[in-house]
Parts: sequence; C-alpha cells; structure tokens
Amino acid sequence: MSGAQWYDTIGATYTVTRRTEPRIAAQLWAALGDARTVLNVGAGTGSYEPSGRDVTAVEPSALMRAQRPAGSAQCVAATAESLPFEDQSFDAAMAFSTIHHWQDPIAGLREMRRVARRVVVFTHDSSDTGWRRRFWLTRDYLPEVAELVVGRPSLTELARAIGARLEPVLIPWDCADGFFEAYWRRPEAYLDDHVRRGISVWARVGPDAEQRAVRRLRDDLSSGRWAERNRDLVDLEAAELGLRLLIA
Ligand SMILES: C[S@@+](CC[C@H](N)C(=O)[O-])C[C@H]1O[C@@H](n2cnc3c(N)ncnc32)[C@H](O)[C@@H]1O
Repeated sequence: MSGAQWYDTIGATYTVTRRTEPRIAAQLWAALGDARTVLNVGAGTGSYEPSGRDVTAVEPSALMRAQRPAGSAQCVAATAESLPFEDQSFDAAMAFSTIHHWQDPIAGLREMRRVARRVVVFTHDSSDTGWRRRFWLTRDYLPEVAELVVGRPSLTELARAIGARLEPVLIPWDCADGFFEAYWRRPEAYLDDHVRRGISVWARVGPDAEQRAVRRLRDDLSSGRWAERNRDLVDLEAAELGLRLLIA
C-alpha cells in the first residue's frame, strides 16, 4: 500500500489526537526563517502550517484533504516524489512527520529542494541506537518496528541527499500532538484505542503485535515493572528520542 492509501484507510480519526504541538511548531517555524511563501508537503489536516505566511499544501490522501479545516491553505492532490511546481517557486518547503510514508523519500526531498530555496523536515532517526533502543515502547514492547524500516534510507542518507544539517527536537512530557513517541512519560495513553488509531505504526505492525504489546504494557503498568524500568523518566520535562529537523 502507498502512504496515501494507508491514510485513506486509517486517517478518519486523525484529528482526535493529532494537532499542533506549539513548542515543536515554534522550532520548526524558526527554521523556516523569513520565508514568505511556504509549501507544506504531506500536509494532512494542516497542523504546523504557519499563520502569517502564504502557504500551499500538498496532500495525496483524499480522506486527509477532506478533514482540513475550512479556511486553511489551498491544498493540491499530489505526492512529494512529483511536485507539480516550477523550480524555486517557494521560499521554503516543509514536511512534518510524513517522509517515512513516502515511496521514495530521497526523490521527495530532492523535489522539495528543487521547488524551494529552503527545506525543513521533521522526521526521526530510525537506526537502532537513535530510535528503536532509545524508546521503551519499541525496545520493550514493539520490536516489530524494526521490520518497518528495513530498506529505508538512514537519517544520514536523507540529510546527505539535500545537504541538510540536523537539529535535535526534544519531546515535551505533555506533547499535544499524539504522534508515536508523544506519550513517552504517559505510558497509560498507549492502552487507549483512540491514541493508537492516530499513529500509523500500530496499523502497520498488524493486530497480533499490537494486541501483544498492549497486553504486556498493561501488565507491566499494573505490576509496577514499567515504573521500575523507567524510573529515570518520571522527572524529565522533555526527552531526546531521536526526532530531528533536517534543515537545508
Ligand atoms: C502522519 S501524517 C502527517 C500529516 C501532517 N504533516 C501532520 O503533521 O499532521 C502523514 C501524511 O503523509 C501523507 N503522505 C503519504 N505518502 C505521501 C507522499 N508520497 N507524498 C506526500 N505525502 C504523503 C499521508 O497521506 C498523510 O497525510
């Protein structure tokens, strides 16, 4: 299934838990610099589209486009890998939490580079040390995520493709946007169906892995094992879990 087909299947309840996290948005918008015209690729329902700038959105899933709030930026049905715009037609192009869904992320990044003078991408380091072993959910409950990243370009390869530098993005403990890592200090949230439905990883690993992970997490929360293993997290205000801005 293509990334857009996934979202045409799982995207119906996206806005229940997915929305702008203001502290991460501030970091992203700062990286856009003084860009006046901004292209938002893989725009979804429009979280992270900056106000006060001239924004154009690109989103291939009809179900996601249909959930964009009235009055939001004009949205074009297209994919990152083939952007229907002239060279250098935007001051900046941004992409948030989407390139792991693209069929060919390197081609998509090069397209962003072609159509814009500045590129800002929010993504994650999917290497073992960067992400999978750093986050208790993947390390202790959902090792199946390893299969999702097989054959995908590394963060270094992505950065190299567009000559980007990397900027760490810390996740606040009370992150408002319910993406995969958002509830690192609120483990009970992952027991909630609504939370999991807003995170594509759960659909992608399949129902058996999902149910097993949820069952084990529930057991460990009630036995105190989760708290014992993750004692160092309870006083942290923000966590470094391998999330990055690529800035070119
Ligand atoms: C997790 S959502 C993120 C949406 C939005 N950027 C946000 O932060 O809420 C991922 C989005 O990427 C879109 N997508 C999937 N494949 C794509 C592609 N090849 N090109 C552009 N967008 C794609 C999906 O349809 C979906 O809307």
